[in-house]
Amino acid sequence: MGSYGKLAKRALETDMPVMIQVQGLIRGAKNIMSLGQGVVYWQPPKQALDKVKELVWEPSISRYGADEGIPELREALIKKLHQENKLYKSSVMITAGANQAFVNLVLTLCDAGDSVVMFAPYYFNAYMSFQMTGITNILVGPSDQKTLYPDADWLERTLLETKPAPKLVTVVNPGNPSGTYIPENLLKRISNLCRNAGSWLVVDNTYEYFMYDGLKHSCVEGDHVVNIFSFSKAYGMMGWRVGYIAYPTEVEGLAAQLLKVQDNIPICASIISQHLALYSLEMGPEWVTDRVKELVKNREILLEALSPLGEGAVKGGEGALYLWAKLPDKYVNNDFDVVRWLAHRHSVVAIPGSACGDPGNLRISFGGLVEKDCRAAAERLRRGLEELISDGMVQ
Ligand SMILES: Cc1ncc(COP(=O)(O)O)c(C=O)c1O
Repeated sequence: MGSYGKLAKRALETDMPVMIQVQGLIRGAKNIMSLGQGVVYWQPPKQALDKVKELVWEPSISRYGADEGIPELREALIKKLHQENKLYKSSVMITAGANQAFVNLVLTLCDAGDSVVMFAPYYFNAYMSFQMTGITNILVGPSDQKTLYPDADWLERTLLETKPAPKLVTVVNPGNPSGTYIPENLLKRISNLCRNAGSWLVVDNTYEYFMYDGLKHSCVEGDHVVNIFSFSKAYGMMGWRVGYIAYPTEVEGLAAQLLKVQDNIPICASIISQHLALYSLEMGPEWVTDRVKELVKNREILLEALSPLGEGAVKGGEGALYLWAKLPDKYVNNDFDVVRWLAHRHSVVAIPGSACGDPGNLRISFGGLVEKDCRAAAERLRRGLEELISDGMVQ
């Protein structure tokens, strides 16, 4: 039995993961299609999987490895950071995915009681990482109504007015759940504001390769900037759990403190997964971008399906895997009811905006289904939205 009184406030006061709630909806229904989870439909490169198969009997695979990651992968990533991201003064720590990278950083850079900044709509796991580490003073800034870019004027005021200055500012580029990218000039401005205020800037670049319509992803570097990356989506490696932190080499003590956290959570990322990451990286970024190009069709199909919501209702989609769709005003306080209704009545799932600090919206993912299935899911979504608008949530 037991009682709530025996459980930690840090856990009790953390939001329930929206993905777990949505997975519950999926499990409870027959023949449901998901536009909810942020995943890609492809598997890792075949050549990389074949090579990894050969490694399973190698003794080092079953031992612990260096906390910061296997040297071959770290070396390859330093090269990649130079060539692709123009990051020249960064060191690498490999983690069990980008989410663990973020938790490592929060534990290394922030104390309970600090204030931090993020922008709505925000990435729900980042919000929860703050909550569960005692950082309850989470200042949530607005995004531009039209573009969904983080509002840098608000940030400038907030960094000036908040005493002591917020410890950390975080953005996702391109965004989850917004599906918008942060243009280079804006990212530089955010970085300069953080540097001047003495705040860390943590940029989550999980979707660095997921850029459309000729737009280019860029990174910023500095002694106050930490970048996070992931193999999950790019190489279809969600279940292998590999991400990494690119942190400023010259900041004294940072590497040592990061190692303390790492040694107490995964010790090291799975060794076989790190080898798969290395072999996948050897395929080159084109392996990823060739697949990302194909997602444009899914995006078009889903944009069409969202058209019943009316002109201007859908934003994002210029990066990452997401469209951000505004529901009619009367659903501003019950977007999760709409999600449940869509699941039960129309067998299609999305993520409610309320889980991202921006109620009254839906996040639609266009990465998880092959085109044929995406069409089928889009058809359900379209019918559902038409009914929602004409008759409401009829049972
Ligand atoms: C912005 C962002 N960061 C991190 C993650 C988690 O990535 P990983 O699988 O590398 O932990 C996701 C996954 O959806 C994401 O969207």
